[in-house]
Amino acid sequence: MTEHKPKIGWIGTGRMGFEMAQRLAKGGCDITVWNRTRAKAEPLAKDGARIAAALSELNTCDIVFCMVSTWDDVKQVIAGPHGLLANGKGRLRSVVECSSISLEGSAELRRMLAAHGIELLAAPVSGSAKVIKAGKLTFVCSGPRRVFDELRPLLQLIGPAASYVGDGELARIVKICHNVFLGVVTQSLAEITILAQKAGVPRHAFLDFINQSVMGSTFSRYKTPAFVNLDFKVTFTPYLLRKDLDLGLDAGRKLEVPMALASITRDLVQAMMGQGMTEQDFATLLVQQAKLSGIELTPENVPVTDGLS
Ligand SMILES: NC(=O)c1ccc[n+]([C@@H]2O[C@H](COP(=O)([O-])OP(=O)(O)OC[C@H]3O[C@@H](n4cnc5c(N)ncnc54)[C@H](OP(=O)(O)O)[C@@H]3O)[C@@H](O)[C@H]2O)c1
Repeated sequence: MTEHKPKIGWIGTGRMGFEMAQRLAKGGCDITVWNRTRAKAEPLAKDGARIAAALSELNTCDIVFCMVSTWDDVKQVIAGPHGLLANGKGRLRSVVECSSISLEGSAELRRMLAAHGIELLAAPVSGSAKVIKAGKLTFVCSGPRRVFDELRPLLQLIGPAASYVGDGELARIVKICHNVFLGVVTQSLAEITILAQKAGVPRHAFLDFINQSVMGSTFSRYKTPAFVNLDFKVTFTPYLLRKDLDLGLDAGRKLEVPMALASITRDLVQAMMGQGMTEQDFATLLVQQAKLSGIELTPENVPVTDGLS
């Protein structure tokens, strides 16, 4: 990092962006945040963040982080008529783009920023809002190594691990692979949990074993409360999961890689959404699996840990 305290801008305080920006604010950074729905950013003022009225104000920052939804949204907040660059680049040196977007979108963003002399670190993440709170968010980064090395201390204020995977947009394909895995694993976990339940094993007992087995993971543990007690408060929406499976399938087509499991999982997510299950957590794949298996799901009301808190 440069010797003076860098001025940081933050775009997007949704479920993920809010928690990430809050860790920088609480870590003592000089941070200004902007969110389309201003009210969602305002609570960050008590952590010391300034709230910007317009995106273009963030060009007075050295580094701007971006955490919105899709590539279209990224394009709009960076290069739209009222976007970050609407009044020129100002003192901006680097953008750290953390949304899960395509390789092509990321490459276009890099070109757009380079035209203004701004460097891009592609830095998508693995985790959820709760994972960020627990201090366990991980980044996968690509772009100029020098920029990664310079910004690493800031990334580490947000989460403990940042893997550098190479130049250009390589971090995007790693993140897309990660989320294809997320979808396929969740569908598989739903299938085996319902299979065990239909055979007579309570979900909490089944997952207690899985979580402690060699197949257990941080993820299987933190999805356990949803699967056992049917708490489907959103951590990640079916829309965002479908977007990432589509990005994976698209990359598979371009690179001529068969993606059989991803393809089936994408259709199962679509089928779930077609039945109206769009607003809760994507873990409602369990509900769909139960319906397809002729089981009526009820909460087990057993206290289970998510392994995070
Ligand atoms: N949730 C997870 O567990 C998770 C994990 C890893 C990665 N991700 C990725 O992280 C990104 C954010 O996910 P999230 O769960 O935080 O989503 P979210 O809660 O829906 O938040 C989306 C954010 O983007 C803003 N936004 C969307 N479209 C915009 C536009 N056209 N112009 C300006 N602002 C716009 C929203 O502003 P408003 O508040 O005004 O709507 C909000 O701040 C996505 O790319 C997602 O795939 C999510």
